[in-house]
Amino acid sequence: MCGVVGYVGTRNAVDTIISGLSKLEYRGYDSAGVAVPDNGDFLIVRAVGKLDNLRKALKDVKTTATAGIGHTRWATHGKPSETNAHPHKSTHIALVHNGIIENFSELKTELLGLGYKFSSDTDTEVLAHLTEEYYKTNSLLEAVRLTAARARGSYALTVMSAREPDKIVATRRDAPLLIGIGSGEYMAASDIPAALDITRDFIRLEENDLAELTRTGVKLVNKDGRDVHREPFHVDWEPEMAEKGGFDTFMLKEIYEQPRTIVDTMRGKIVPDEGKVFFGEFDGLVPSIDKLERIVLLGCGTSWHSSLLGKLFIEKYAHISVEVDTASEFSHRELPLNKNVLVIGVSQSGETADTRNALRLARARGAVIAAICNVVGSSISSEADYVIYTHAGPEISVASTKAFTSQALTLFLLALWLGEKREKVDSKTTSGLLLDLLRIPDKIKQLLDNKDEIKRIAEIYKDTKNFMYIGRNFTCPIALEGALKLKEISYIHAEAYPAGELKHGPIALLDDSFPVMIFAPDIKVQEKIFSNMQEVKARGAKVIGVFSERNRANFPACENQIFIPDCDKEEMTTFLTTIVAQLFAYYSAQALDKDVDKPRNLAKSVTVE
Ligand code: G6P
Repeated sequence: MCGVVGYVGTRNAVDTIISGLSKLEYRGYDSAGVAVPDNGDFLIVRAVGKLDNLRKALKDVKTTATAGIGHTRWATHGKPSETNAHPHKSTHIALVHNGIIENFSELKTELLGLGYKFSSDTDTEVLAHLTEEYYKTNSLLEAVRLTAARARGSYALTVMSAREPDKIVATRRDAPLLIGIGSGEYMAASDIPAALDITRDFIRLEENDLAELTRTGVKLVNKDGRDVHREPFHVDWEPEMAEKGGFDTFMLKEIYEQPRTIVDTMRGKIVPDEGKVFFGEFDGLVPSIDKLERIVLLGCGTSWHSSLLGKLFIEKYAHISVEVDTASEFSHRELPLNKNVLVIGVSQSGETADTRNALRLARARGAVIAAICNVVGSSISSEADYVIYTHAGPEISVASTKAFTSQALTLFLLALWLGEKREKVDSKTTSGLLLDLLRIPDKIKQLLDNKDEIKRIAEIYKDTKNFMYIGRNFTCPIALEGALKLKEISYIHAEAYPAGELKHGPIALLDDSFPVMIFAPDIKVQEKIFSNMQEVKARGAKVIGVFSERNRANFPACENQIFIPDCDKEEMTTFLTTIVAQLFAYYSAQALDKDVDKPRNLAKSVTVE
């Protein structure tokens, strides 16, 4: 899983490519490289580590090239090193690749037989040599097409020939690649933010499509080499939206964006006074809604946690059984499915291979496929029968924050919509919930204004080696998500359990060095969770309690308390406890001086299984 870029136009290619790659580092950042044409050959510069190392390596490099390719890598074959970094080169060809070539050994043997020499441990290098081989008797476009046809596995490629310095060829299969259409300049890139400096108009390549980019335009062909037309689309993201906007990190910026992203997610979907929710995107489902047997929600990481919340919402308001599974495990199950089962993939990026493959499997077994995605035109959204976009804007920080609240909100609205269609929820109830929901953005702002208290508490616990997170009902997924956030960015070990499960095993871990964060804002479960708190305290563990403001007077004694604004409806507290969990993880990581936006060993978009 890597970020690829190819640019042809009028600007300095190296600067444009580096700027593009800086928006793709979330896809991997163990090494990076660029190639630009240079007097009939290539100037290739590569560096191990984050993009800054490549910037340093380029400091004294002078080039006037206005076309080139670039790459930021997340290693799959071959450790992160300069020789394994992309671009990879054959005699006339330079190429960058995101994906995995499954039959690379077989192709390598063939190419070694033809006299090609290999200088890396990557699967990618075979593609450079194979393109070179076909390029001897074909155009560059045709050579890439023939190479792609021989490759098994996944790829997004941008390719150049030193003999044709004004041309980029790009292609994809099972990996994202878009073409940004500027005026006299074009960029092929793994994701939209990379090209926002030059355009907001894009073409999404369909599976196996190839694009030839020159300064005069883009030619598209399909896998058979036939001309094809793909409809361009426009995005209204401002380039600054993909920048830090004055915050120290993307993660903090994205946490702070939530009052706005929550509004953007519900925009056009609700009429609170009338208790109405609209999901035009799902209208095609309406005739079969009464026959729905169950819903299966699939996701990975944070998207799995929002799915767990979605289950509680949908079961409560639409009275439909919901199963939730991690997408990777779903693929191993032999779950009976049919056309009356709706399988919804939840994914911020829309590119997660586990989720995409699980959905394909569900479709093959006869289920109806839907997706809740943030990235427009992503692979998962293109393959699903029905898609709802969360409209949270680009999420750059590897640890997901605003995408989670937008997914949870979308699932909440979906629950109300389904409930109304199935006559399980009346408009008065929906209206009450929606009116409470409208107040959430301001309550998030209030919480953010009180961030210093959360920061202070995080600093107290920063040297803790282990943490336990517990919750009940709606805060159970929040406990899981909070522990995940802490692990991801601070590397503090954190476990999460339903509060009632604690006594069935995990309580054995607790002592005075193992603090417990307890989410107890919700009146209905408070009594039970307060008992759990006593069990924890009796083992000497310190407690950080997250309570509702209205309980300030009668919260049980514990070492630290964080208060969230009151909500009328218990479901609404989830959006607020989430913010507490995000800020706590953020300030813990910051106190430990960790690279919050780019935690070790992780990548934002995991396009391999
Ligand atoms: C990666 C990221 C996680 C994310 C997960 C699912 O593992 O590091 O933060 O939650 O992928 O991503 P998706 O784009 O499908 O929501």
